[in-house]
Amino acid sequence: MGSNVAIIGTGYVGLTTGACLAHLGHTVVCADVVPEKVAALNAGEVPILEAGLDELVREGVKSGQLSFVLGAENAVADAEFVYLCVPTPQGGDGAADLSYIEQAAHQISAHLQPEAVVINKSTVPVGSTRVVERALGRSDIAVVSNPEFLREGSAVHDFLNPDRVVIGADDQAAAIRVAGLYLGLAAPLQVTDPASAETIKYASNAFLATKISFVNAIAAVCEAVGADVNDVVLGMGYDKRIGNAFLRPGPGWGGSCFPKDSHALVKIAEDAGYDFGLLRGVIDVNREQFERVADKIEKMAGGSLEGRTVALWGLTFKARTDDLRDSPSIEIAGVLKSRGARVVGFDPSSPSAHDSRLAGIEVVDDPYAAATGAAVLAVLTEWDEFKWLDFDKVAEVMDAPRVVDARNLLDRSALVRRGFAYDGIGRH
Ligand code: UDX
Repeated sequence: MGSNVAIIGTGYVGLTTGACLAHLGHTVVCADVVPEKVAALNAGEVPILEAGLDELVREGVKSGQLSFVLGAENAVADAEFVYLCVPTPQGGDGAADLSYIEQAAHQISAHLQPEAVVINKSTVPVGSTRVVERALGRSDIAVVSNPEFLREGSAVHDFLNPDRVVIGADDQAAAIRVAGLYLGLAAPLQVTDPASAETIKYASNAFLATKISFVNAIAAVCEAVGADVNDVVLGMGYDKRIGNAFLRPGPGWGGSCFPKDSHALVKIAEDAGYDFGLLRGVIDVNREQFERVADKIEKMAGGSLEGRTVALWGLTFKARTDDLRDSPSIEIAGVLKSRGARVVGFDPSSPSAHDSRLAGIEVVDDPYAAATGAAVLAVLTEWDEFKWLDFDKVAEVMDAPRVVDARNLLDRSALVRRGFAYDGIGRH
């Protein structure tokens, strides 16, 4: 028997949560503040690139299990559960900005059914459950933390096949009710207090970012000592305590979560009286990685980028997403431009050349056009399609065949046979 659920915010977390809960048999009403977006979603048009999401949205809209309305106050009238999936952007001092969460809570408070449960799905600082309780100002409404662990590009898969469902609640009855929403999923269910649930989210993301910064630092050591990071990571990964997931060296981590959450956790710890030096180091290594990739490109161009053209393949923060938020590619492009380079970029997700975050990058819609006349080609995201391009043609159109493969994606020996100068990350 399905429940009545409302979702406030239809970004990749809210839309994925709504579509998947409808798929599990619940009746879901999603609210957004942008009229065009609400209309498009009710027509089954999904504005974000997430594997399987458009099918689920169309399935839910067609069956009537899923609908979209304008304004949070219009979504909650029948809701037994209300998910808050609104942005919690990074504030100036690193702390998460909770203004959208508080605004949503104020908007829905008077319209909530008695005994409805409000669920914090957005990544929120430890203690935010109290913030929402205060904003709601209703003693009959329980607030529960239910953090999301969705990776962009595999959000639907991750929602329907979670490693765990975490519920943080002071009110055990509310926790059990929320757990009932996930009965269709075969996953461990952990019920804990709100602060622990909120900390699990930050600690998990910070640990994953730590793994990546660690392997990027090890890659720098490999280059210095003449080791090959691919073999080092393979050898490390056989140790089950280490594993090989999230140990792929690259241009640094980015996206809508790791940068925001790592800074937020440093701030949360600092405000609580602990100086999280280790995590600050992880953030520093990540910033250094952008410079290291730019140094590789400059060295490959002969030592100066003044007036040279650099082609970037990959502008999003990783492959199989269209998200440019905190993209290492954009950071690296900024460093290259500061050193006098002309930067031409291509991305298979076809980002708009007018997107302000791409200012200063000449965005083209063809990988060979990007490489034309380029002194160096830099591969910055691991889109599979880059592997199958015609590198004889790439060599022809470039100023000279030189590639910095910041994802160790390409076949180095095949490129060297074609006359390319090749540099990867952690390769010698
Ligand atoms: C992350 C967490 O994985 C997810 O659980 C959380 O809910 C949201 O944040 P996401 O930001 O979508 O998900 O992307 P993810 O796949 O985790 O990658 C984050 C960054 O790390 C990307 O820039 C990616 O390119 C980079 N990365 C990832 C590496 O450089 N090496 C790796 O081995 C893995």
